[in-house]
Amino acid sequence: MDFNLGNNMNDNEILKKVNPIYFSAKGCLWFLVGAGDSDCTRFYSSIDKEMLPAVEVATCDDINRSRTISMEVRYNLWKAIAKDTDCQTIVDLPCGYVPHSLITARLKKKYYGFDLPIVIDEISRVADKFLNENEKAFVQYHSVDATNYSSMRNALKDVHGKICIITDGLLGYFNNYDLKVVCENIHCLLQEFGGYWYLSDAYSSELMAVTYVALTGGNKDDMLKANISGSSQVSDNDNSDHIFISGTLEERRNFMKECGFTVESFRYPEKLKIIPSLKDNPALMNKVLAAYDEIEEWVLTVHSADFTEKKIDVPFTQNLSVKDNILSIRISGRLDTITAPKLLQEYEVQRAKNFTEIHIDAAELSYISFAGLRAFKIMRESLDDENLFKIINANDEVGKILKENGYTIN
Ligand SMILES: C[S@@+](CC[C@H](N)C(=O)[O-])C[C@H]1O[C@@H](n2cnc3c(N)ncnc32)[C@H](O)[C@@H]1O
Repeated sequence: MDFNLGNNMNDNEILKKVNPIYFSAKGCLWFLVGAGDSDCTRFYSSIDKEMLPAVEVATCDDINRSRTISMEVRYNLWKAIAKDTDCQTIVDLPCGYVPHSLITARLKKKYYGFDLPIVIDEISRVADKFLNENEKAFVQYHSVDATNYSSMRNALKDVHGKICIITDGLLGYFNNYDLKVVCENIHCLLQEFGGYWYLSDAYSSELMAVTYVALTGGNKDDMLKANISGSSQVSDNDNSDHIFISGTLEERRNFMKECGFTVESFRYPEKLKIIPSLKDNPALMNKVLAAYDEIEEWVLTVHSADFTEKKIDVPFTQNLSVKDNILSIRISGRLDTITAPKLLQEYEVQRAKNFTEIHIDAAELSYISFAGLRAFKIMRESLDDENLFKIINANDEVGKILKENGYTIN
């Protein structure tokens, strides 16, 4: 993956550098257009398609047909969960570009679409075009980083009563450390508000594999392998020890239990009776639906009795100055997908001053996520001598992550 910044990076390019995977959500919408969904087609007509050609080239084979059906199934399952839940507030984490807001508003339930700023910026404008005034009253979109508790808690500040968080396509993007933090954050929200966390991610690879076998009679492992290589193309994550990509179902379940969740589940056919794009071929549709008897949606809940409020993070601040060819950077708070672009923007401004060394004072840095590590990597690799990228004063937790990623703390 290319981390080099060009000379004149604009803000959008910087956002893409720290979050190179956001376009995968456009791929999800594109697959749903292929499945013939009319709401998705309308939303798709208004999104920027710059990153899509790579996905479009490869869509006619059996692997991609299986992906299309799997996306369609998950989209319809999402609708069924939103309809059936007794919660009046649905939190779509992450919302991507699919028209879940429209579906939820039609159900007259409150919709909170959560995603990274680059996605929210676009989807909120697209939704605004297609929702009528009554529907808009039910819909809110918020920029969050799932690793950042405060960003999600602030977005829910007007919510009362139980929440239903639905997650389809999130956990695979984190390293194991971020993954734990995301689970802790959701745990904390459910302790406070009550409600459920519906999770499709535990079985997403299996869903595609089972679909592939039912459609083509092919070998399940071919699809599982294609999924692992597909996810390493859209994420710079090392997937080899990622519990939601390479771990077994048992390991995934145990992980969630260790995070304090009670894990219940239902099988897809309990909520899915048809697959719209296959309804002209009932024999094939029923074969695929029968195969889904081994696919589970997880419903995670927590005990609320021992709720302890999670501490709100120190606000992010940064101070950059150049003296004697050294760029000195002091950061406080969290360096994550929301704040890392701010650091890179300011870094771009300072580049005109021609420094040869970068010194980072991390004494007040409370957390560094995957996106923050990308920002450090971009800055380090821009120096002629990478050894002149120095970090001082990191706390134990941040220091451990930095060391694991090849940095020395002075
Ligand atoms: C595969 S898409 C799924 C989107 C949507 N659920 C769907 O079905 O189309 C993954 C989404 O996760 C979002 N994402 C990645 N990291 C995130 C983070 N740290 N916090 C919030 N959203 C994140 C990406 O921006 C992207 O929109």
